[in-house]
Formats: sequence, structure tokens, C-alpha cells
Amino acid sequence: MMKTTYAALFLISTSITGSIAQSSPDTCLTVTTVDNFNLTQYASAPWFVQQQAVNTYTPLDLNRCVTAQYSLKEHSNFWGYTIDVFNYGVKSDGGQSTGGDLCADYNKDIPSQLKVAPCFLPKIFAGPYWIVAYQEETDNNDGYALVSGGQPRNLVPNESTCGENGTAACCKTGDGVNNSGLWILTRQPTPSNDILQEVRTIAQQKGFSTSVLFDVDHTNCTDIPGINDNTRTRFLRQQQ
Ligand SMILES: *[C@@H]1O[C@H](CO)[C@@H](O)[C@H](O)[C@H]1NC(C)=O
Ligand SMILES: *[C@@H]1O[C@H](CO)[C@@H](O)[C@H](O)[C@H]1NC(C)=O
Ligand SMILES: *[C@@H]1O[C@H](CO)[C@@H](O)[C@H](O)[C@H]1NC(C)=O
Ligand SMILES: *[C@@H]1O[C@H](CO)[C@@H](O)[C@H](O)[C@H]1NC(C)=O
Ligand SMILES: *[C@@H]1O[C@H](CO)[C@@H](O)[C@H](O)[C@H]1NC(C)=O
Repeated sequence: MMKTTYAALFLISTSITGSIAQSSPDTCLTVTTVDNFNLTQYASAPWFVQQQAVNTYTPLDLNRCVTAQYSLKEHSNFWGYTIDVFNYGVKSDGGQSTGGDLCADYNKDIPSQLKVAPCFLPKIFAGPYWIVAYQEETDNNDGYALVSGGQPRNLVPNESTCGENGTAACCKTGDGVNNSGLWILTRQPTPSNDILQEVRTIAQQKGFSTSVLFDVDHTNCTDIPGINDNTRTRFLRQQQ
């Protein structure tokens, strides 16, 4: 889930997009992110990726056991990052993929718009990782999050089920390194189909194409570091 970009350029292009959005189906809706986002709560437990779009870090064959774990640093690092990120996944051929050593930070006015990069790079290279929708798991609710690699800017032709009334354009982020990716995460490794459909509907209403999403399988995922081997506490301690 690592993405790099010049954040400043990104912000300029987002504000241009924002001023013309919603005028016709030829422009992408301006995506809003979660209000009153509680990052501590978001980072408090592992996330299981159920569906994701292809990008450099989440290719089509990375389709098993894809998980993300976060921890808040007690002290920010040299570049000022405040969050540690540990991504893990298994490829269809059995190969493992880890994205340890990622770091994230956020503007305290908009904590739901994280920026993520390898920890050794300055923040100017950090790419957007936006929490577009989020519900924490409770006794009565499934836990889910919808996450985008920033504002989608690419029209998806022949898909026109987006927006509040299904009349807006459907859009996607890039599929490379920068401004790329879309993820549906859940707290449960194998959630109900209902909750996945609910999050897909939220995505469409916000202007995201859901045809770009592919499934991640979580059966037999018994070796996820930090989840199955009780090293999460160790992970948290090491990163601080
Ligand atoms: C991502 O953006 C950065 C900054 O604009 C650029 O240096 C880099 O080449 C881009 N990477 C890719 C793979 O496009
Ligand atoms: C955020 O979540 C944490 C952990 O669940 C909780 O202790 C804290 O009170 C929450 N903060 C706010 C402002 O709701
Ligand atoms: C979109 O639909 C038009 C008309 O049905 C068709 O000609 C075109 O090939 C389609 N484009 C894509 C990318 O599927
Ligand atoms: C969707 O439809 C409702 C009811 O017709 C209308 O009030 C609302 O403004 C529409 N929303 C958009 C974004 O077009
Ligand atoms: C999970 O493991 C069982 C027993 O080893 C095996 O039969 C099944 O095919 C596996 N499923 C996947 C998706 O790997």
C-alpha cells in the first residue's frame, strides 16, 4: 500500500478537480474522507483486505492473506513520521509479500487523509492513503474501512452506477505507485457478504468504480506475522 508522490502537486491538482467536479458525468466526484476520524481506534487492531484494486504494491496475484497493521509511534522518527505500517500478503504462487518499514503521517486537521511512504524517505515523497469510510467493530456492527490512494481522477468508461443517484461518473485512482489503489478492509478475516456489498455501495455512491476491485482469500492464513503468532505486541513494542 505504499505510494509516493509530490504531495504539493497532488494538492494543487485536487483543488482544480474539486472546483469542476459534479458538473457533468465527465468529471469525477470530489471524494470526502471520514469526519472525526479516531486514528487510535483505527490502529488498534489488524485489518483484513477483502477486495483491492491493482497497483504496483497490490498486483492481481497478491490475492491471499492481505493484511495491514498500524501502530502509533510514541516519538516521531527523523522525518517526523508518527505511525508505523506493516503490510503482508501471499501471492497465488505461494510467495510472500511484506511491506514492513512503511511510515505514515497526517495533518492533524484531516487525520483521515494519511500519507504513507518508506520510513527512510522524507514526507514530500509520501503518497495519499485516505480513509473514505470507516465503522469500528462492535457487538452489533461489523468493522470495515474503505481506503483510497487519494482522489480518483480517471474515468472508468461504461460504468455509470456512481454517485448518490447513480448518475455520476465512476472513477478510479492510478494503478502504478503514485495516487493508486483502492481497498475494502474488515476487522474479521471472513466477513459476511452483506458487509462487503454495503461497503461497495458506499464506494459507488462516493464515485468509485467497483469493477476495479478483485477478491482476496483469507482461508488457511495461519502464518501472518503479528496476527497468528502473537507477535503483534512485539511489533508494537519494536516500532516505538
Ligand atoms: C511518483 O511520483 C514521484 C514524484 O513526482 C516521481 O519522482 C516518481 O517517478 C513517480 N513514480 C512513478 C512510478 O511514477
Ligand atoms: C479513540 O479511540 C480510543 C480507542 O478506542 C479511545 O480510547 C478514545 O477515547 C477515542 N477518542 C475519541 C476522541 O473518541
Ligand atoms: C463502451 O460502450 C460502447 C458502446 O456500447 C462500446 O463501443 C465500447 O467499446 C465500450 N468501451 C469499453 C472500454 O468497454
Ligand atoms: C438524488 O435524488 C434526490 C431525490 O430526487 C435529490 O433530492 C438529490 O438532490 C439527488 N442527488 C444528486 C447528487 O443528484
Ligand atoms: C486450505 O487447506 C485445506 C486443507 O489443507 C485445503 O484442502 C484447501 O484447498 C486450502 N484452501 C486454500 C484456499 O488454500
